[in-house]
Amino acid sequence: MEAPILDHSCDGIEELDNPLPRWWLYLFYLSIVFSIGYAVYYPSFWFWPGTSGWSQEKQWASTTVVKSAPVSSDPNLAELAARPETLEEGKKLFSSNCASCHGNNAEGKIGPCLTDSDWKYGNEDKDLFETIRKGRPGGMPAWGTFLKSDQINTVAAYVHSLGNTTQAASK
Ligand code: HEC
Repeated sequence: MEAPILDHSCDGIEELDNPLPRWWLYLFYLSIVFSIGYAVYYPSFWFWPGTSGWSQEKQWASTTVVKSAPVSSDPNLAELAARPETLEEGKKLFSSNCASCHGNNAEGKIGPCLTDSDWKYGNEDKDLFETIRKGRPGGMPAWGTFLKSDQINTVAAYVHSLGNTTQAASK
């Protein structure tokens, strides 16, 4: 069957009016149906947020690491010190590692008293961690490599619990 020739030609070249292949047409209709579904499901026009609830902002928030999250993994010493088993363990660690210089009850010997409110380097969590991990120039050894990090947490919590429990000694 010969297709009709369209009545226009260019430099003697003529065009046949063949019907579009069936597979091509179906694919074309299918893409139209798909695009309608897509436009309904996702935000597609300025007035249409889509039925899926998807948004760029939500996608961004779910895949990005929140940069303002605290970097430090040090525990809160007051919270640790609230656990009796931690204090007990901390007291043992203190007796075997610290008492020789600070005294059995941290009352002070070679090292200063740790129960008063007189802190040379401060007794906030970060100060205690720094003192215990890195040591201090006046003869306080660094424990960062001798004790495991959870032991440091535990003994720091114990020292925290002792702090400010007695009057500062007059010097
Ligand atoms: C070899 C003796 C020695 C040992 C052992 C020792 N310390 Fe010390 N510590 C010192 C001295 C001396 C200082 C004072 C350092 C300074 O003034 O620079 C000090 C200071 C400190 C301070 C700071 C006090 C302040 O006023 O800021 C803390 C906290 C502390 N030690 C905790 C500990 C803990 C916990 C241990 C056991 C893990 C320990 N120390 C073991 C000698 C020791």
